[in-house]
Amino acid sequence: MATPHIAAQPGDFAPDVLMPGDPLRARRIAKVLTDARLVTEVRGIAGFTGTWEGRPVSVLASGMGVPSISIYATELFRFYGVRRIVRIGTCGGIGPHLALGDVVVATAAHTDSAVTATRLPGVHYSHAPSFALAAAAVQAAHDEPGTTVHAGAVLTSDAFYSGESDLLTHLAARGTLAVEMEAAGLYATADVEHGEALALMTVSDLIGRDVEMSAAERETTFDRALRIALAALAA
Ligand code: ADE
Repeated sequence: MATPHIAAQPGDFAPDVLMPGDPLRARRIAKVLTDARLVTEVRGIAGFTGTWEGRPVSVLASGMGVPSISIYATELFRFYGVRRIVRIGTCGGIGPHLALGDVVVATAAHTDSAVTATRLPGVHYSHAPSFALAAAAVQAAHDEPGTTVHAGAVLTSDAFYSGESDLLTHLAARGTLAVEMEAAGLYATADVEHGEALALMTVSDLIGRDVEMSAAERETTFDRALRIALAALAA
């Protein structure tokens, strides 16, 4: 069996999938799992299934943006029996109280993406995660020494280079924490496919403050986000 974007057999994916944006990060997560095996590699998007502390877990990259994560999440939920997807990614902080390396649990995702906005004409759809996964992730982040975690809304934007705009200022004034490019697509897909989802991001840059993480900081904070995601799935 294969879908247009995944060439795996039925049963190849675990019910729980970790979803980084970057395919290289997926390979790195696979190295942390026990007995991880390659289950798909269409378009260089490698998927692996192994175990973590005895529980089956898979990993598959989402690529960038709402269209890409919506395709992979739909095919996993609809055709491969996946029940829960946790995105582990990065975001640009817009809230004035955020710092580099902070963890953001997206308890809501505003979006400018046409993919989700056009699903139900006339409705301003609320993009929200699984409450159980979000609560477990916040708890797991609190258990990580030296970690500051924020639970709140993010903006899922179709544009990384958005140009001059007051939009982020207005959103920050309304409590929005950060901008990223996938959470709303994942949440809307989980709703349609009756799955559960969560987006868990590390603040990699602070928008308007011209600071970003070094490569070494990215690796350390990524490992921490991975531990938080695995702990949330195991809770
Ligand atoms: N992911 C990480 N930083 C981002 C930014 N500044 N904008 C959108 N997505 C991001």
